[in-house]
Amino acid sequence: MTTSSTPRIGILIGSTREGRFGDQPAQWIHGIASQRSDLAFELIDLRDHPLPFFDEPLSPAWVPVKNEAAQRWADKLATLDGLIVVAAEYNHGPTAVLKNAFDYAYKEFIRKPIGFVGYGGVGAARAVEPLRLIATELQMAPVRNAMHIGMVEIMGVWKQGKRFEDFPHLAQSATGLLDDMAWWAHALKTAREAA
Ligand SMILES: Cc1cc2nc3c(=O)[nH]c(=O)nc-3n(C[C@H](O)[C@H](O)[C@H](O)COP(=O)(O)O)c2cc1C
Repeated sequence: MTTSSTPRIGILIGSTREGRFGDQPAQWIHGIASQRSDLAFELIDLRDHPLPFFDEPLSPAWVPVKNEAAQRWADKLATLDGLIVVAAEYNHGPTAVLKNAFDYAYKEFIRKPIGFVGYGGVGAARAVEPLRLIATELQMAPVRNAMHIGMVEIMGVWKQGKRFEDFPHLAQSATGLLDDMAWWAHALKTAREAA
């Protein structure tokens, strides 16, 4: 059972286009994660945070954002102790909406762990690896273990009536990711609260 002091992890759907696949891996990892009692999880949809392209006079690292939707986004991030990003790969990089969302906050990210569920060719590794660098600049702690869902699994679930459970290696990598998130979320929450 989770309590009010259990670290809270947002599972962020990082694509917003109509007909996206992103809901499926997000709901799947949320289902697995929610069976744990050492972390609390919440699905967060970037569609609920329709941010304009970044248009602030200064970086949120220096001054709070003015845009109302961005303030709401920052307020949501502030409630979290870590993030798992469900990341698509667009043209060998992260989606633009996700990068934009990262640009729109700063202090709300600092000293929190971040993990990744990538889906795409080579498991969206070409989106996840640059996201690790972006997260480091936001003073987050990217965890080592990630889930990488490849095209065979995507096509199986999307077009062939299969389920993620039909690919047992995915559940195995989910455990690695969630264990890493738990260790770092507890350690960093304790450290932030002591600071
Ligand atoms: C603009 C665009 C660029 C894409 N580029 C890549 C790519 O570089 N590598 C890849 O594996 N898949 C690529 N794809 C295919 C995506 O992996 C696939 O469409 C996936 O479903 C995207 O996630 P979404 O449905 O949640 O938006 C691209 C798709 C779009 C729309």
